[in-house]
Amino acid sequence: MTESEIRKGLAGVVVDYTAVSKVNPDTNSLLYRGYPVQELAAKCSFEEVAYLLWHGELPDETQFRKFVETERAGRTLAPVVRSAIDELPLSAHPMDVCRTAVSVMGACHPLVEDSSPAANLAKAIDLFAAMPAVVAYDQRRRRGQDVVEPRDDLGYSANFLWMTFGEDPAAEVVEAFNVSMILYAEHSFNASTFTARVVTSTLSDLHSAVTAAIGALKGPLHGGANEAVMHTFDEIGIRPEETLEEAAVRAKAWMEDALAQKKKIMGFGHRVYKRGDSRVPTMKAALDKMIAHYGRPELLGLYNGLEQAMDEAKAIKPNLDYPTGPAYHLMGFDTPTFTPIFVASRITGWTAHIMEQVGSNSLIRPLSAYNGKEQRAL
Ligand code: COA
Repeated sequence: MTESEIRKGLAGVVVDYTAVSKVNPDTNSLLYRGYPVQELAAKCSFEEVAYLLWHGELPDETQFRKFVETERAGRTLAPVVRSAIDELPLSAHPMDVCRTAVSVMGACHPLVEDSSPAANLAKAIDLFAAMPAVVAYDQRRRRGQDVVEPRDDLGYSANFLWMTFGEDPAAEVVEAFNVSMILYAEHSFNASTFTARVVTSTLSDLHSAVTAAIGALKGPLHGGANEAVMHTFDEIGIRPEETLEEAAVRAKAWMEDALAQKKKIMGFGHRVYKRGDSRVPTMKAALDKMIAHYGRPELLGLYNGLEQAMDEAKAIKPNLDYPTGPAYHLMGFDTPTFTPIFVASRITGWTAHIMEQVGSNSLIRPLSAYNGKEQRAL
């Protein structure tokens, strides 16, 4: 086998069919079950999109009511999960907390070994419902704050914000958060989804697959990039007293210097999209609303300055993690909590793929070309 036949990183390799989503880099489009993600973000709640990803169709009124009832009944943090989190040091990364929480939920789930469609759907809904409590509880314990109980008079996004901050969230913030959750929900065979499918292909259980997927998402080349974007902003220096223009000048200079040092800048570039990420314009519009809501034009200056300098130097476009980082920052989330929010959203896509994999399974086991020592005597 020649080196050119090896597809490092599986780049360009099509490994299976999926009916969950379609990424088309040529038209810069992303469809969930056939619907453009931009339209879903404009017209739907995250709960409706979750239902769509699992069932293939949007819910009618009765289906939605029943689904919302189940989701709201599962929002409380189980005592066993809470005590497992309490055992973890505050120095543990929130993604490690998240991964551990899902693992504990699996170990305690009565249906853990049942991978029938009904059991997998029930487990997916349980995870979807419980994840905001995990993320919110972990951020609050780091801040020395008490747990905030869920409210069943609020939709998913409003309740997520309520449990994290203990305050009624503004409607604009709920809307922007909802948009981010929809945009993060699904993206075909990305690294974490593929990880979930590999684990599922061994006939392991749904919680094991999600636990592994969280590990894959943590890396800065994948989900960890939203957190890394904020570290870049912090390194440049966030100065609320600055004008948009002043911040842009400093950000441009920072980027030029970083690129001269051949640094990789998180939040830019994509394996599939080479002319821009289809989700960015929608999230950028949500970020613009957050910047106006919180009155922080200097953050837009940093955003624009980095983007312009990258475009001029390398024509590499931002990915979804670029606008979500500062948006979550403005909403009040601590930077290490950003990727766990991504987990709470992507749980929907991962579990839809897990169910699809179970439905037409074949063990995923690629080959390798050996380049180690020739056979020798011991
Ligand atoms: N900053 C600087 N240069 C970048 C870059 C970035 N974010 N992304 C790509 N490049 C450059 C590479 O240095 C490389 O340049 P070279 O050919 O001169 O060596 C070229 O663009 C191709 O990059 P490569 O890493 O091979 O592309 P890929 O398709 O394998 O990578 C990513 C895709 C996402 C891994 C890559 O763009 C990246 O690391 N981005 C930052 C992490 C990130 O934001 N991840 C979230 C993705 S949604």
